[in-house]
Order: sequence, then C-alpha cells, then structure tokens
Amino acid sequence: MIIAVDGPTASGKGTIAKALAAHFGLPHLDTGLLYRAVGKQVELNGGDAENEADALTACAFPDALLEDDALRSEGVGGLASRVSVHPAVREALLKRQHDFAFQPGGAVLDGRDIGTVIAPEADAKLFVIATVDARAERRFREMQDRGEDVTLEKITEDLRRRDERDSSRQAAPLIPAPDAYIIDTSTLGRDAAIAAAIEAVEAALAKKE
Ligand code: C5P
Repeated sequence: MIIAVDGPTASGKGTIAKALAAHFGLPHLDTGLLYRAVGKQVELNGGDAENEADALTACAFPDALLEDDALRSEGVGGLASRVSVHPAVREALLKRQHDFAFQPGGAVLDGRDIGTVIAPEADAKLFVIATVDARAERRFREMQDRGEDVTLEKITEDLRRRDERDSSRQAAPLIPAPDAYIIDTSTLGRDAAIAAAIEAVEAALAKKE
C-alpha cells in the first residue's frame, strides 16, 4: 500500500506521515529532506541555488548528509525551495523516491508532489493544509525549541514566500491531486490530526474495494 501525504511547510504533514507509517507498519520517506540535502550541498560546493547546473551537481550529495541536523534550519529550507524549481533536480531525485514508493509492501512518502508526480497510483492521497498563521506559529515554536534566533514576523514572511515559489513553479507545483483527501490542521491538535488522517486513509481504501 502506498500512502502519499502532500502539503505546504509546517502543515503537519511530516507528523501525520510518520504516524501513518507507524499505524500501518510501513516505511516512511520525508522527501523534503532530499531537496534540503541538495540545497545544503549547493552551499557546501560554493554554488548558486538559482543556477540549474550547480543544483544538479549537488544532487550527488553523500547519503550521510541526510542525517545532518542542519538540514532542518529555515535557511536550508529556503535553499531547498530554490533548488526544487529546477526540472533537472526534480528528475534527478525522482528515481530514488519512486523506488522507495514502489518497494514490496509499500510505503508512506510526504512531500509536495507525491500524489501528483511520484506516485499518482497511490492507494491513499492526503493533502494537508493549515493557515499561514497557524503554520508560522508552529514553526516559530519549533525553531525556538531548537535555539534558533528568529521572529514570528520573519517566519511568516518566509512561509509566504516559500508557498508562492512552491505553488507557482512550472515543474510539479504544489497542488492537491484531484482525488486527494484534504485535511485542514489549523485548529486540530496532534492526535486529532492523526486520527483524521487515519480515517481518510481508511476511507480511501474502502473506496478502492
Ligand atoms: O517539506 P520541506 O519544508 O522539508 O521541503 C523543503 C522544500 O523542498 C519545499 O519548500 C519544496 O520547495 C521542496 N520540496 C519539493 N518537493 C517535495 C518535497 C519538498 O519541491 N516532494
């Protein structure tokens, strides 16, 4: 069984995807981490994230980079959003994501284009949304816990910019698959959001039978 969980930054899709993986006993891939690794590698190479050739070279990042906690920072999130607009980068990361999705037994993947590009055949597709304010508030608390020096205003502004870039790009823009279940986590706590996601997956499976 393949479960696709898409949505914007800090919508809660990562938490939901992990919980679904545990609930259904499936492996999980956070595909945003791949784009973050490419963004970080461009920086390490002294390249320019806006330059497609530099970004493509960075797709050969070492696997160990995926374990680097620095990938979670807002700065690297911005770099990831820049490298992800290049079709060559998306193509270079496609096989890895596709292989993960189609491994025997299936998997849960979260990202932006899992239900639309990577695995349109997914058995269940979720699109997780929340208002910019709710997402900024969450991200702000996360960053504070990590000891990062940020303001709520700056995070809100960055989220808006990133949403705009992710939604308006030509290659695999952030849009829900036509048959995706939309889960709005703006006013849901963690447990309620996970329960809604499990219910949506079960509904999708029941519909297929
Ligand atoms: O989800 P996360 O914030 O870690 O993703 C970082 C960036 O990577 C996103 O802003 C988006 O531009 C890009 N991304 C993507 N496609 C995915 C996952 C992430 O374009 N499947």
